[in-house]
Amino acid sequence: MEPLRIGIVGAGAIAQRNAKEAAASGAAKIAGVFDLNHKVARDMAKALSAPFFPSYEALLADSTIEAVLLSVPHYLHKPMTVEAASCGKHVLVEKPMANTLDEAREMIACCEKNRVQLTVNYSFRYLPKVQKARQLIQEGALGDITGIQIIAHQFKDRGYWSGARSNSPDDWRASKEKCGGGVLIMNVCHVIDYVSFITGLKGTRVYSEYATLGSPAEVEDIISVTARLSNGGIGSISASSIMRGADQAEERIWGTKGTIILDPEGLSLYSTRPIDGKRPGKLFRYAKFPNVSWTAEWVKGFTSAVRHGAKPAISSQEGWDNLAFISAAYQSMEKGVPVEVEPYPGPLQ
Ligand SMILES: NC(=O)c1ccc[n+]([C@@H]2O[C@H](COP(=O)([O-])OP(=O)(O)OC[C@H]3O[C@@H](n4cnc5c(N)ncnc54)[C@H](O)[C@@H]3O)[C@@H](O)[C@H]2O)c1
Repeated sequence: MEPLRIGIVGAGAIAQRNAKEAAASGAAKIAGVFDLNHKVARDMAKALSAPFFPSYEALLADSTIEAVLLSVPHYLHKPMTVEAASCGKHVLVEKPMANTLDEAREMIACCEKNRVQLTVNYSFRYLPKVQKARQLIQEGALGDITGIQIIAHQFKDRGYWSGARSNSPDDWRASKEKCGGGVLIMNVCHVIDYVSFITGLKGTRVYSEYATLGSPAEVEDIISVTARLSNGGIGSISASSIMRGADQAEERIWGTKGTIILDPEGLSLYSTRPIDGKRPGKLFRYAKFPNVSWTAEWVKGFTSAVRHGAKPAISSQEGWDNLAFISAAYQSMEKGVPVEVEPYPGPLQ
């Protein structure tokens, strides 16, 4: 398969990993680098033996570049996707797809109009423990799913909010306008995506409460969400970025025949059925998973979709569904009522 010639746009914290792993995947050739901060872009271009471009327009004007990988602050996802698509470039955009559903709609319409593919970086789907949980559920380990609980607590210090860990320090993460929100849209979006991938379920109606109680930021640092699931089950999320000294990350998925618990080290399974060669009625631990570059898997999948003219595995629909859930959660708190999740608008052209 001919590698996809990708222009790296944004050479900040996550772009360092994205660019290296895309290059190492064998499915991409880094064909250019641009960042407003020319120094970090030049450094990356040199490290990857790729050309440096002094502007986004110059990079998009290079006809040998087939796609862009956008690792830029959230408020730039929409305008930079639209600009790239209008120049006939395929787009790999970091999560979340955008800050609002109106922005996401414009991105979908523009990519459709220009016949380019769009993917959102929900590559945690390629984590082996996530793939395993999905497989166990597809084999019937849980029966009918009745409940999902996502717990995600950590502590973000002042340096996080001022961007001190980036090679281009900037406080965009603290701004509602630039970031779209806090811990839910920034961090938990990954978990919402992969739990939906594992279970095949979506949230359909959402109620939430959130607040900013301990951070120098406009965006929420604590949130609680309750959701009705597409099969009638109930889901909940408890997340914050202000829990000191006791990080907690766990997803529990349970049903009429069993329970799966995912945590940072692996997963546990209890099933009343004989699944995966395990004795029914006992709690089993899966902890030894191979190391996989989830970013490389994402890039490989996207290159294959582009080369075969197919829809990418993580397409604009997956990006939309995730953002629609998160947007409903934010609206619910703002309006003080439960909010229905807006379905994918389908082909817009
Ligand atoms: N997939 C993951 O696990 C993961 C992890 C962290 C961040 N992210 C996402 O990656 C994106 C970037 O986050 P980050 O932590 O790397 O941020 P960052 O602040 O470290 O980097 C952003 C970069 O974008 C550049 N930039 C800003 N405006 C630009 C413009 N107009 N044109 C070109 N470059 C511009 C900045 O100079 C900076 O180098 C966000 O969407 C974030 O949510 C994803």
